[in-house]
Amino acid sequence: MTAFADQTCAALAPVSGCDLRVPLVQGGTIGYANFDYAASAPALRQVTDRVAGLLPYYASVHRGAGYASRVSTDCYESARGSVARFLNAADDQVVVFTRNTTDSLNLLAACVPGDTVVLDVEHHANLLPWTRRGRRVVAVADTIEETIQRLVAELCSKPAALLAVTGASNVTGELLPLERLAWIAHQCGTRILVDAAQLAPHRRIDLRTTGIDYLAFSGHKAYAPFGAGVLVGRRDWLDQAEPYLAGGGAVRSVTDRSVEWAPAPQRHEAGSPNVLGVAALAAACDALAELDETTVVEHERYLTHRLRYGLKTVPGVDFLHIWRDSADAVGIVAFTIEGFEPGQVAAYLSAEHGIGVRDGRFCAHPLLSRLGVDAALRASIGLGTTADDVDRLIDAIATLVDRGPAWNYARAEGHWSPVPETRPFGNSAEGAAACGF
Ligand SMILES: Cc1ncc(COP(=O)(O)O)c(C=O)c1O
Repeated sequence: MTAFADQTCAALAPVSGCDLRVPLVQGGTIGYANFDYAASAPALRQVTDRVAGLLPYYASVHRGAGYASRVSTDCYESARGSVARFLNAADDQVVVFTRNTTDSLNLLAACVPGDTVVLDVEHHANLLPWTRRGRRVVAVADTIEETIQRLVAELCSKPAALLAVTGASNVTGELLPLERLAWIAHQCGTRILVDAAQLAPHRRIDLRTTGIDYLAFSGHKAYAPFGAGVLVGRRDWLDQAEPYLAGGGAVRSVTDRSVEWAPAPQRHEAGSPNVLGVAALAAACDALAELDETTVVEHERYLTHRLRYGLKTVPGVDFLHIWRDSADAVGIVAFTIEGFEPGQVAAYLSAEHGIGVRDGRFCAHPLLSRLGVDAALRASIGLGTTADDVDRLIDAIATLVDRGPAWNYARAEGHWSPVPETRPFGNSAEGAAACGF
């Protein structure tokens, strides 16, 4: 089995695992249909190629004089340029490498010199960090228009340092008008941060033309699953704040009584950096920048419409939406099925059909409460998704609603599993082989 098979994968771009076969509970194997891109996306071929190419040169960054160290250092530092070009960052915006979006938002939360205003529909990563410095939560309205009016009222009522909004909802995929929000925030003397964890893998973002001050996203959701993330943003707050971590690499000089901290980005990157992760992230930015945006958006729209249209014909399926007037969304479809627990449906899709979806509350508990559901299913689409995958998902749901599952399922410790479970996992010889043990 090869990791990439352009000929056999009808995907838009070659991603690892596109010809993966997975075991079924009833016996045999089937091609894996991955609908969990919003959680973690498979690696793009350009990403794994870049990492494989760098591995022989992998050595200490910043501190070594050896040739391999110099190559690794160049690779690490030039990655900032790839990210900045991908986002068309402004001259005063620095690229700080982190572990993921959560890390980036926590870093920025420690730098903000005042209150942060957020909407109540955010992922926990863009809700919880701001509580440290004064967080003001605005409840969304039924429409984006009315939600914006509420934001305006909040920003006008009392000065806020930052407006922190999601670029695309991780539950429904709906998009906010970022350029307009940036303009509004700036009129009120407020800066804007965009949590682009779900937006960056799907849409091009232009920091200069939109006026976005800070932006964070994760490599693993943007086809670079090697443990790096990024915070890009205006230098002054980052330079004035305490270093995110105190340690080597973040300083200019140290005596036994004093320390002179380096400016950003080094100021917030203490410790040995994740060179391979950063190289992977840069490769993903380069590769995504080369794709034709219209083709990517059309591919996703077509598959998303096909999925919605197909699921609409299944009795009991209900879609989740935040706003009545949202004009656009990335390839994420969240839904419930009357009479079926989302966890059981997800277990059934995996066990009997080799389809991977996400179920639960998606780290957005306030949003799920607002939408009046305890849990839901989420199917998310990416560069490797095909029309055949979509049709399989629709058929599998239709079969479930029509005839019920063909296997037994039970819930233990909060998770649904087939009973008996016949598929090999990590603790079996086949599973261990997949892990490379
Ligand atoms: C919108 C959004 N923000 C932030 C995060 C957190 O990302 P990470 O777990 O990579 O830090 C996620 C993860 O699902 C997300 O969807």
